Amino acid sequence: MDKFLIKGGKILKGQVAISGAKNSALPIMAASLLTAEPLHVHNIPKVRDLVTMSKLLTFMHVHVSVKEFPSSDYILQATKLNDEVAPYELVKTMRASILTLGPLIARVGVARVSLPGGCAIGARPVDLHLTALEKMGAEVETKAGYIEAKVPNHGRLKGAHIVFDKITVTGTENILMAAALADGESILENAAREPEVTDLVIMLRKMGAQITGDGTSVLKIKGVKELHGTDHTVIPDRIETGTFLVAGAITGGDLTITNCAPDHQGAIIAKLNEAGVPVEVVNDTTLHVSGAKKLIASDMTTEEYPGFATDMQAQYMALATQAQGSSIITETIFENRFLHASEMLRMGANIAIDNRRAVVRGPAKLTGTTVQASDLRASAGLVLAALVAQGETIIDRVYHIDRGYELIVEKLQDVGADIERFHDPSSSAA
Ligand code: UD1
Repeated sequence: MDKFLIKGGKILKGQVAISGAKNSALPIMAASLLTAEPLHVHNIPKVRDLVTMSKLLTFMHVHVSVKEFPSSDYILQATKLNDEVAPYELVKTMRASILTLGPLIARVGVARVSLPGGCAIGARPVDLHLTALEKMGAEVETKAGYIEAKVPNHGRLKGAHIVFDKITVTGTENILMAAALADGESILENAAREPEVTDLVIMLRKMGAQITGDGTSVLKIKGVKELHGTDHTVIPDRIETGTFLVAGAITGGDLTITNCAPDHQGAIIAKLNEAGVPVEVVNDTTLHVSGAKKLIASDMTTEEYPGFATDMQAQYMALATQAQGSSIITETIFENRFLHASEMLRMGANIAIDNRRAVVRGPAKLTGTTVQASDLRASAGLVLAALVAQGETIIDRVYHIDRGYELIVEKLQDVGADIERFHDPSSSAA
């Protein structure tokens, strides 16, 4: 199993380029199921979740062409589909497999998708996806770990008025894709406003879908009979951008972050500014971050976009361990997303957890030790903590970070971090 060895204390300086957004690329690739024509997609991050999505689509008989593997440019063509159930082995590592459900049932009237496996950060049900599909006329059954959905009499889904009980990102994306090929109009209220949802809407529109309201919480979709192929470039990854902003800030460094979308970083920039970290918007694709004169504690609550992303909570917690004073971090999106805190405690952080609140008292002198990554973003938080810890930190189970960060080791090395990946044959993958 691969591990990272990080020697803390280096000040990060230089330039780093951001990859495409994993959470945009996933629904965009799944949208290839909606048409028989080819979809050309660019700026796909070379990370494991996209490799898994591409294997899943291949299983469903989507023809996936790439020059190299993994690649950032894909041509996906779903001329004819296979409605066999995707093997659980394939979908268990990636909850986003559920994104194939909406497009499959919209295009062929039947879908069988394995229920996403358990997840360290909470129960993460998919009930909202399923009730919305039922409102659109699908018959949905879950049995023996599988979701079986079909439209009676091999018909088409019908447009519906759906009010989501909770804001759900992949739920909104799934139903958007289903509604794009349904009979009649759909209205989605309390829809997610994440930039990744908007990116999907923009691409669906290029495929011929009739959608209005992107960027707001009410999406209106007039279903069309057929969608066609198109060419699309995925937006930059705002979580990778935020992670490098914190990397610059926590090491007191000087980083220029290119190929990013500063417009999507509002909540993170505002929070870093509050903590005393200067962030400059250089132009519409470039940010610059430097170290704070004094890092000040600042409370943070995770929220749906445009609020502070739950996917940046672990990274912010690492920063809070170095700030002067107490920061109260409240996690409102997932019920069990402080697993990184216990590892940071082992490194010497002062963190008290009470249900969904963490009180972080700083600044703490962190010391390197062996820590375990528990999920994708928790691993990023541990890497950031290790960058300022005294001595050596070994991060175990980095397969979590490989799900979503392209070339994280190389990108950090390029700006001066002392980090390396090594293979430990004595430990096997969990
Ligand atoms: C997406 C992102 C993930 C991010 C999360 C929240 C992708 C591939 N993943 O995950 O990185 O952390 O948004 O910003 O885009 N819920 C239900 N029932 C449902 C669906 C969701 O109760 O049917 C709950 C969840 O348990 C959670 C909340 O709603 O508490 C938000 O989840 P959701 O937005 O659906 O997260 P994902 O789309 O899975």
